Amino acid sequence: MEMHALPHGPLAGEARPPGDKSISHRSLMLAALAVGESRIEGLLEGEDVLATAHALEALGVELVRRGAGAWTVHGVGVAGLAEPETVLDLGNAGTGARLLMGILAGHGFTSFLSGDASLRRRPMARVAEPLRAMGAEILTRSGCRLPAAVTGSYRLVPITWRSPVASAQVKSAILLAALHAPGETTVIEPLPSRDHTERMLAGMGASLRSAPAEGGGVAVTIVGQPELSPQSFTVPADPSSAAFPAVAAAARPGSRIRLLGVGLNPSRTGAYTTLSEMGAAIAILDRRLEGGEEVGTLEITGGELRAVDVPAERAPSMIDEYPVLFVAAALARGRSRFRGLGELRVKESDRLAVMAEGLAACGVRCGIEGDDLWVEGDGPPAGGARIDARLDHRIAMSFLVLGGLAREGVRVAGAETIATSFPGFAELMNGLGARITTVPAGEAV
Ligand code: S3P
Repeated sequence: MEMHALPHGPLAGEARPPGDKSISHRSLMLAALAVGESRIEGLLEGEDVLATAHALEALGVELVRRGAGAWTVHGVGVAGLAEPETVLDLGNAGTGARLLMGILAGHGFTSFLSGDASLRRRPMARVAEPLRAMGAEILTRSGCRLPAAVTGSYRLVPITWRSPVASAQVKSAILLAALHAPGETTVIEPLPSRDHTERMLAGMGASLRSAPAEGGGVAVTIVGQPELSPQSFTVPADPSSAAFPAVAAAARPGSRIRLLGVGLNPSRTGAYTTLSEMGAAIAILDRRLEGGEEVGTLEITGGELRAVDVPAERAPSMIDEYPVLFVAAALARGRSRFRGLGELRVKESDRLAVMAEGLAACGVRCGIEGDDLWVEGDGPPAGGARIDARLDHRIAMSFLVLGGLAREGVRVAGAETIATSFPGFAELMNGLGARITTVPAGEAV
C-alpha cells in the first residue's frame, strides 16, 4: 500500500496514541506465566502484539478479547506452556521473537520460531548465546538468524551475563529464562535500557534488584522460580508512537497539540529531552503513576527548531525515535549530530542507511561518519521523493511526517507496515491537521 503525505499547516487538537508496544508484548507474556486470570486494558492491537498473542495461544494459553484493547489472559504458570504443533510466526516483531525465546528456553520441548523477511534478517546471537549458557539448545540458520528451533529445559542454570549492547530485548530474554532457573541470575548492560520487564515482574511478586556493576555498566539481578501473581495491567500510550505527531507539531510553527496518557518512563523519554534541546516547547500535564509506570499528557507547541548534538549515552532511551528525530533535524537550523547509532543498523531495517538515503532523496544534506549521523537542517526540505518503507514501520511514518513538513510532500511505498505498531496512524495525524492519503492501487508506482 502506498501513502502520500501532502504539506500541512499548523497542527491542532488532541489525540491518544496507541498502547505501548513494549508493555503490550510483556503484559501478554507475563500474564501467560502467572497462575490465574490477568486483565489487560489499553493493549496495542497492532500486528506485532497480535503475533505474540497467537504464539501464546499456540503454546496453550487461553486469551479472550473483551473489547477494544481489553483482554483477559488465563495464565498457566511459570513453565506451564505446552509444545506448539506448528511454527510460531512472530511476523515483524523482534521483541516478540526474542522475549519468547527466553520463555521457551525454560520449557523442555522444541518450538520453531520464524517471522517476516525483516525479522529473519535480524541477529539472534545476542539472545541465543546467553540462553545456551543457561542450558537451552538453539539451532538457527547461518548467522544466527531465524528460523530457529529452541529446545528448552526445565533445569536451566542461573548465569551472570555481560551483554555488549544495551538492549532491553536481550536483558528481558535472560530475565524471563531466569524465572525457570534456581538462584540468582544477573544481566549486566553497558547503559540502562528500558526497564518495563523488571517493573512488571516486581509487581507480580518476583524479587529483582538493580545496581552499578563492577567494571562498569548496570547489573540487574533476579531470583529465579518465583510464583507470579496475576495482575490488572493498564498499558500507557506509546511514547515512541507519540514521537511522530510530536515532531510534526514541534517543527511546524503555530501548532499546538496534546497527546494523552503517554508513558513517561525515564528510560523511554530521550527523544523529548532532545526535542526540548532543539527548542521545542513541550509541557507535561497531568503527570501520574498508572500500573507502575509514569504517564502524562504532552502538550507540544510548534516553533523554529535549532540543531542539536545528541550524546551516545542517550541512545537506549530514544533508540526507536532516531528516524523521526532525524526529520526534526532536517527542519532545524544548523548541523545536528547524532552519536553512537550502531544499533540502528539491526532494527526492522538498517535505519542508519535507509534514513540517510531517504533524507538525501528528499533534498536533505546528511552523512554517516562511523556510527554517527549528521543532518544539515535548513527549514522545510524539498521532499517530492518516493520512499520504500522496507518492512519498517518507523521508516514509513518518519517519511510521512517529513512529507507533511516538506515543500512537495512525500510518497511512501509499503506503508502497510505501519499497522505493526500504529494502527490508525494516518487517521490520528489527519485528525490533528495532517494530509495523509492512501494512493489508489492503480496510481501507485
Ligand atoms: C524493545 C527494545 C528495543 C526497541 C524495540 C523494543 C523492547 O530493542 O528498539 O522496539 O520492547 O524491549 P533493543 O532491546 O534490541 O534495543
